[in-house]
Amino acid sequence: MAIDYNERIPNNVDLGENRRLQRALEAWQPGYLEWWNEMGPSGFMDVDVYLRTAISVDKDGWANFGHVKMPDYRWGIFLAEPEADRRIAFGAHKGEAAWQDVPGEHRATLRRLIVTQGDTEPASVEQQRLLGLTCPSLYDLRNLFQVNIEEGRHLWAMAYLLHAHFGRDGREEADGLLERRSGDVDKPRILGAFNEETPDWLSFFMFTFFTDRDGKYQLASLAESAFDPLARTCRFMLTEEAHHMFVGDTGVQRIVQRTCELMNEHDSDDIARHGGVNLDTLQRYLNFHFAVSIDLFGAEFSTNGANYFSAGIKGRYKEEKIDDDHVLTDALYGVAKLDHGAIIESEEAALTVINERLRDDYVEDCERGIARWNRTIRENGIDVTLSLPHRAFQRAIGQFRNTHFTPEGAIISAEEWDARQHEWLPSEAERAHAISLMQRVVEPGKFAGWIAPPRRGINGQPLDFDYVHLS
Ligand SMILES: [Fe+2]
Ligand SMILES: [Fe+2]
Repeated sequence: MAIDYNERIPNNVDLGENRRLQRALEAWQPGYLEWWNEMGPSGFMDVDVYLRTAISVDKDGWANFGHVKMPDYRWGIFLAEPEADRRIAFGAHKGEAAWQDVPGEHRATLRRLIVTQGDTEPASVEQQRLLGLTCPSLYDLRNLFQVNIEEGRHLWAMAYLLHAHFGRDGREEADGLLERRSGDVDKPRILGAFNEETPDWLSFFMFTFFTDRDGKYQLASLAESAFDPLARTCRFMLTEEAHHMFVGDTGVQRIVQRTCELMNEHDSDDIARHGGVNLDTLQRYLNFHFAVSIDLFGAEFSTNGANYFSAGIKGRYKEEKIDDDHVLTDALYGVAKLDHGAIIESEEAALTVINERLRDDYVEDCERGIARWNRTIRENGIDVTLSLPHRAFQRAIGQFRNTHFTPEGAIISAEEWDARQHEWLPSEAERAHAISLMQRVVEPGKFAGWIAPPRRGINGQPLDFDYVHLS
């Protein structure tokens, strides 16, 4: 299904055939552009950036690369190809035809899920809007803008569903997505992690590794949805999301590499005064971003989660590849449970702890990334291991939220927490140091001193390619 770029709103959903919807989205478009110009990357609206644009939704060769001014980017509405006679893969309606329209009884739930997902997309653009001013290289600057542009397109994806399937309240919610602001006291974004600051590139890489990866798992569970337009929307979003996690994964790996080089050069663990980021600082940033991101999966025990699954609204990660009955009425699942002041392993009704299952898939995926970073440390002959904190550490949502834990998962008192949290979370001084390292480097092929160059450029281009034209 080709994308029609001759339309004012590029799309592969035959928008021209539905005049009413087309007019509604064309009315939303100026507000979107106003939001982008006000809250998008600060100071870079009139420069040419080497961006990829989707040209089809096929698996191979879906993108086209070229220099574009960001406000001229062709944001649009792209859904993955429909699957002929798609059937619901799980829950009480398993085997029935997938829904092309929203069933009345699930309207409020689906609307809330779409609004919550949609709200994260512009939020991250807002969180990252000043980072361009302190970029470590043109290569990284370009990657930041690619991520921002695509989060903007993800907002389009959710706004389309709201306009196309939720009538008047949908239109109001789509407007609301442009009105809230990350970190604003009066009209904050919906989820906690999306009101945190992203003040420096270390935070940015951690965010794209941990928080965009949460996005991957949320989108993957919605890609299973019985509501077919949502499933198809999320499937295409996932192909874009892969690059965001690549940016985080390789970004942290390159910092680790540079840190190790500085440690070897100065024969010291403390290379902060030599213009680097210490490994223990990396560990504390990792702890912080992991804890904030796993909160996004919700409470371990959740009636909503069970209902979403049974209703067919939200599936498990790769639902169709799981070998069970996909209904789970009597199934059990092992989780960590807080029981009389201790964490125990407990078999619980699989439906009730369905959020925990998705969190498990996510944690496993994170572990693979950490293992890659540890390989880099070992290759540099250094005997330090980075690790994920225990899932109970520093939680704001779910059963662990009112108890203090060490990163190893030991329960501690509030006094001990106060005395020792600086060992586990970045201190003010540490954050200030990270910010002080962020000096802008924009000469093609040059990289800031706290990060190693990547192994290769974007789309086969050399490292000293002019990824962003700054005249
Ligand atoms: Fe996104
Ligand atoms: Fe993303």
